[in-house]
Amino acid sequence: MRIAVVKEIKPAEARVGLTPAGAEDLVRAGHTVLVERSAGELAGFPDEQYLAAGAELVSREDAWGRAELLVKVKEPIAEEYPFLRDDLTLFTYLHLAADRPLTEALLAAGTLGIAYETVFDGTGLPLLAPMSEIAGSLAAHAAAANLMRPAGGPGVLLGGAPGVAPARVLVIGGGAVGTQAAQLALGMQAEVTVLEMSPTRIRQLDALLDGRARVLMSDVATVEAELAQADVVIGAVLVPGRAAPKVVSRAQLALLKPTALLIDVAIDQGGAFETSRPTTYADPIFEVDGIRHYCVANMPGAVPQTATRALTNATLPYIRRIAQQGAEAAVAADAALALGVNTRSGGIVHQGVAEAFADLPAAVGDRSLALR
Ligand SMILES: NC(=O)c1ccc[n+]([C@@H]2O[C@H](COP(=O)([O-])OP(=O)(O)OC[C@H]3O[C@@H](n4cnc5c(N)ncnc54)[C@H](O)[C@@H]3O)[C@@H](O)[C@H]2O)c1
Repeated sequence: MRIAVVKEIKPAEARVGLTPAGAEDLVRAGHTVLVERSAGELAGFPDEQYLAAGAELVSREDAWGRAELLVKVKEPIAEEYPFLRDDLTLFTYLHLAADRPLTEALLAAGTLGIAYETVFDGTGLPLLAPMSEIAGSLAAHAAAANLMRPAGGPGVLLGGAPGVAPARVLVIGGGAVGTQAAQLALGMQAEVTVLEMSPTRIRQLDALLDGRARVLMSDVATVEAELAQADVVIGAVLVPGRAAPKVVSRAQLALLKPTALLIDVAIDQGGAFETSRPTTYADPIFEVDGIRHYCVANMPGAVPQTATRALTNATLPYIRRIAQQGAEAAVAADAALALGVNTRSGGIVHQGVAEAFADLPAAVGDRSLALR
């Protein structure tokens, strides 16, 4: 199969859809890999590495035009819509329910659109989890950095010092983001509490963290009691398909220490704190009622090399299957991948997207809809 990788052109996106190691794997399996010139440069993968891997360096037009399978990171933006066609499989993050113009463009072109974020293997979202884990780690880094005085913090070392108590980190939501944030904060010797709503997940966290962190049920009384103790609060909640639940209201900010730092990782889903609004690395922090809020919406964007490697680790097994079997056969054989199909032959396949755009054509009776 001809598999192509293009340079991401969405502003501030430095990741790329495939590492040179991933390209080499596919070339060795007998496929042709086309890489747009300088596609991997910002992620730390120069053209020479793709050439050495056996890939062909091409123009953007050639990459899109010759591809049978196009592998990306972010959803196509308007200037990429003209490249969509009906004999193309597009494998990338799509987030269609929030993007009517792209949904319409994919339908008009008849493209088979498979979204990373809706591939579901029965236990979780394997192509979303790597970015969540990275965001969780970065949240702990942001906590440590922004408690320091030069960053405007109270001048506290996250892990304390011999004879000096560590900072208290409150993580709300113990999924992929929250678990990784807790693990890293524990690694830096902070005192960590995780609040979770799911009894099953609470048991798993209890076993995983093995007494190193307190794991408590996330009810209002516990949230309020813990807010009063926290030096850092990390918002890491998710209710799939919905806006993030607001776990801290504006009124509850008054319970916090004046020097407390709120880090809202769930900001891409609307935020876990009522007072959050999205920020970027250029200006990550703002204050509401004197409380500092850190709400960077694309945290993995700071570490494109690690994020690209983690993404390829997760996507490559699916890319291999699509390349070996053909997209439709691979989808038919793999229930997880079938749930990734969002658009096909001019119809919406994924139920969530169909519900978001009830007036657009749906591929009714499609296998993926039935599986949902
Ligand atoms: N800002 C970024 O760059 C970035 C990057 C990756 C993920 N995210 C976001 O981080 C959030 C978490 O993602 P995830 O992959 O960890 O999700 P996840 O599904 O793995 O975990 C979310 C957890 O929150 C729990 N939860 C839900 N409501 C709760 C409540 N009221 N109190 C306590 N726990 C509650 C759920 O039970 C679940 O265990 C999502 O909104 C995701 O979009 C942001």
